[in-house]
Amino acid sequence: MGSKQKLLPRERLPRHVAIIMDGNGRWARRRGMPRQMGHQRGAKVFREISLYCADRGLQVLTVYAFSTENWSRPQKEIDTIMDLLRDYLRDALTIFRDKNVRVHFLGDVSVLAKDIQDMIRETEESMHVHDGMILNIAINYGARAEIVRGVQQIAWDVKSGKLPLDAINADLLSQKLYTAGQPDPDLIIRPSGELRLSNFLLWQSAYSELWFSDVLWPDFKVADLEQAFWDYDRRNRRFGGV
Ligand code: IPE
Ligand code: IPE
Ligand code: MG
Repeated sequence: MGSKQKLLPRERLPRHVAIIMDGNGRWARRRGMPRQMGHQRGAKVFREISLYCADRGLQVLTVYAFSTENWSRPQKEIDTIMDLLRDYLRDALTIFRDKNVRVHFLGDVSVLAKDIQDMIRETEESMHVHDGMILNIAINYGARAEIVRGVQQIAWDVKSGKLPLDAINADLLSQKLYTAGQPDPDLIIRPSGELRLSNFLLWQSAYSELWFSDVLWPDFKVADLEQAFWDYDRRNRRFGGV
């Protein structure tokens, strides 16, 4: 980032920023490279941006890394993404040493390879005591599946007599989601030119500000993020009021 870019004061930053890390494949194809190379480059950008956000003092950063629909991709591409996840989990504790970051996974990780599940558990457990930025990594995440899972938990409690029907409300469902206890995203960022949410945080995004950019994720810079923060600062959030 150019040193001339003035930073939005910390107290005006969004508390929770969520990013759809999109455009890896197109970045690679435009260079005549296999899509996998785009994912490698995208993983590097993810490390840089997440470290920057921790230093910048965000409360929560959520990144969309792999959706419930991404299993429909060629197996070779899925394998690359899972290997990058392995690399990341191996490094996570070192990357965030002294940063007090707490990594948390959103999505059904029970279908991932056993070694990945073990590393996820270790990472979450060893960072559990940290009280700095929460870094949510959405893997095998889909908002519809997340909501269905929450509804099933509630239905179970009603069926077993633990919960009266009229105790079901929006707050209760929020507490059954992977983001339970966290503020809803204030700002959702999607690079790569696509103007859609692609099954990301559908419940939590009810009043999120959306910010789109044509930059592909592997080209995404801290300066783009800071631009999004300034644009966010200019929004007038009314939440249905006047
Ligand atoms: C985002 O980049 C990463 C994942 C979905 C895993 P894409 O792989 O979707 O890249 P494009 O959108 O095809 O360019
Ligand atoms: C959303 O991107 C999922 C992630 C970035 C992980 P996709 O590339 O899967 O979304 P669509 O297919 O363009 O909607
Ligand atoms: Mg995409």
